[in-house]
Amino acid sequence: MNIVLLGCPGSGKGTQASLISKKYNLFHLSGGDIARSAAETDTRIADIVNSGKLIPEEEMTSYVMNYLPKVKPDFKNILFEGFPRFISQYEALNKFLYEKGEEIKVVFTLDLTEEEAVRRITSRRICKNDGEVYNLITKKPKTDGVCDICGGELIKRADDNEEDIKTRFENYYANTKKLTDFLKEKGKIISIDGSNSIDEIFKQIEERLEEYVR
Ligand code: AP5
Ligand code: MG
Repeated sequence: MNIVLLGCPGSGKGTQASLISKKYNLFHLSGGDIARSAAETDTRIADIVNSGKLIPEEEMTSYVMNYLPKVKPDFKNILFEGFPRFISQYEALNKFLYEKGEEIKVVFTLDLTEEEAVRRITSRRICKNDGEVYNLITKKPKTDGVCDICGGELIKRADDNEEDIKTRFENYYANTKKLTDFLKEKGKIISIDGSNSIDEIFKQIEERLEEYVR
């Protein structure tokens, strides 16, 4: 079962993707993680990612298409999170999977106001070592500044500052929102209220997935 998870910055995509992929044994393909990993060896990409801009849409598609056969050569049971983000990326992924005899089974979007999303992003901290995501308000670590799992230092993500958050939202409205509207028109997307608690959102996603895993 291949799933796509959409949503604005800070809507909880990464948090839910981690829960969903564990429960349903899916490979979690994170567009953001692929982008940040490319940024480690490419200063041009680092400049883009660390300033809240998007990697050019076709270039990002190529990254994913090159990466997928290496990590998931059967192209099954993948949770796509943060990719696709453009209509062109969605169509390219659809075509790519179709050619492999696979498909996108279900698309979710997490609905959240910009105001609440910004509040969550500004209070997010991530572990420098294992990338575990925390929140100073809603998902506090047991000890301040320290990862519960590995003891690593908790830091702010490079693009979690006021200016870059603004850029990320502009990109969201200009691109991903259009993809969401496009899928809504086709009746191919399930909207989930992202303002609920982490557990409640996960419960709602599980309920909607029941019909697909039967
Ligand atoms: P990416 O890493 O995907 O960033 P984003 O879209 O801005 O999303 P975030 O990771 O900020 O938010 P999230 O929705 O994952 O929320 P989270 O679960 O952390 O992409 C980064 C960059 O990579 C892009 O800007 C671009 O440069 C590049 N890129 C990626 N994909 C690309 C593509 N397809 N094409 C081109 N470029 C691409 O939650 C946020 C906080 O809230 C956390 O602290 C969490 O603990 C907390 N929280 C989560 N859920 C809840 C809840 N229900 N209640 C309370 N708190 C919650
Ligand atoms: Mg994320």
